[in-house]
Amino acid sequence: MPKRVRVELGDRSYRILIGGGLLSRAGALCRDAGLGGAALVVTDRNVARRYAGPVRAALEGAGCRVSMAVVPAGESSKCGARLFELYDRALDAGLDRKSFVVALGGGVVGDLAGYLAASYLRGIAFVQIPTSLLAMVDSSVGGKTGIDLPRGKNLVGAFHQPALVLADTDTLSTLPRREYAAGLAEVVKYGVIRDAALFRLLERRAADVLACDRALMDRVIARCCEIKAEVVGADEREGGVRAILNFGHTLGHALENAAGYEGLLHGEAVAAGMGYAGWLSMRLCGLPEGDLARLAALLRAFGLPDSARGLRATWLGLVRAMALDKKASGRIPRFVLADRIGHARHGVEATPALMKEAWDVCRQ
Ligand code: NAD
Ligand code: GLY
Repeated sequence: MPKRVRVELGDRSYRILIGGGLLSRAGALCRDAGLGGAALVVTDRNVARRYAGPVRAALEGAGCRVSMAVVPAGESSKCGARLFELYDRALDAGLDRKSFVVALGGGVVGDLAGYLAASYLRGIAFVQIPTSLLAMVDSSVGGKTGIDLPRGKNLVGAFHQPALVLADTDTLSTLPRREYAAGLAEVVKYGVIRDAALFRLLERRAADVLACDRALMDRVIARCCEIKAEVVGADEREGGVRAILNFGHTLGHALENAAGYEGLLHGEAVAAGMGYAGWLSMRLCGLPEGDLARLAALLRAFGLPDSARGLRATWLGLVRAMALDKKASGRIPRFVLADRIGHARHGVEATPALMKEAWDVCRQ
C-alpha cells in the first residue's frame, strides 16, 4: 500500500501517494481525482526512455487521449523557448479546459510543465509524477511552477497546485547516484528546519539512506512530504513561514548562478548553502557548535559538500545574486537560520561584514 499525505488547501487540496507500482496505476488514480479526456505528458529524454511507455499505457487504459512532449534533460529546458513549444504541442493535441497536463520527471519537468498548466488557457489541471528524489520530496509538492530567465532562475512563474502527486519510488532505481545524493540535501534540510527525529534517523541509518533502502526511503520521503504539506497548508504563497523551506537556498541559488547552472547540481549548491547558513545560525541564532558539526558530518556522509570549498564564485557576484533572491527586501538578503536542529527562523538579516566573514569560513 502506498503511503498517503494530504495537502490541505480548501477546494485545491490534493493527495500525494508514495510507494512502488504507481506508474501503472496512474490512469485509474487520475480518474479517481476527477481527471480525464485529453492528457499531455511532458517529460525529458532520460525519463521518457524508461517511463513514458508505462504512463501512456496506464492513462490510455483509463480512457484518456494521450500526447507526449519530450524536452532535452537539464535546467536549460526550463526556458521561454521550450514553454512556447509546449503551448503549440498543447494546441496541436487539442487540449481544452477540461484536459490535463502530466509532469513526468524531475524538478525541471515539474516546474516547466506546471507553468504550462498554470498559464495555458489561463490554467488547466496538472498531475505531478516526480521521478527524482529532489522532485519527490520538494518540487512536486506545493505548487511553485516556473521557468528561468537569462538573468536568473525561477524569475517567471505562478503558484498552481497539482491535482495529484504520484511519487513512484520504483523509479529511484534508475536515478544516477549523484542526482540521488543531491536530493538528499533537501531531505537533510527538512530535518534541520522542522524535525530533529528525522535528522537523527538520517544520522543513524546514513548507509541505508545512501543505498536507497526502499522501505526506509518510502518512510523518509513521506515524512518530508508531510512537513512540506504542513508548511504549504499554513502559508501557500510564502507570506511568512513557507520561507523556512529555503534553508541553505540563499547562498545555494547564488552559487548555482555563479556556476552558470552547469556542473553544480541544485542539491549540491543547497548543501554548500546549508553549511554557510549553519555558520551564520551559530553566530546569529545560537545554533550550538555541536549541531553545526552534525550537519556538516551528515552532508559529508551523503557525499555532499558541507562548504563552498573549491566552488567557482566571487564574493561580489554572490552578493549581487543574493540581492536578487526573492526573499530579499530592498536588495538586502534575508536568511533562514536554525536555532537548533529541528527548528528554523526566517527573515533574519546579517550585516555585510558578517556575511563576508561567513563566506571566508565557508570557502576554506
Ligand atoms: P532534473 O529535473 O534536471 O532531474 C535530474 C536529472 O535526473 C535529469 O537528467 C533527469 O533526466 C534525470 N532523471 C530524473 N528522474 C530519473 C530517473 N528516475 N531515472 C533516471 N534519470 C532520471 O533536476 P531535479 O534535481 O529533479 O530538479 C531540479 C529543478 O527543480 C531545478 O530547476 C529547481 O529550481 C527545481 N526546484 C523546484 C522547486 C519547486 O518548489 N517548484 C523546489 C526545488 C527545486
Ligand atoms: N522549495 C521551496 C518551496 O517550495 O517553497
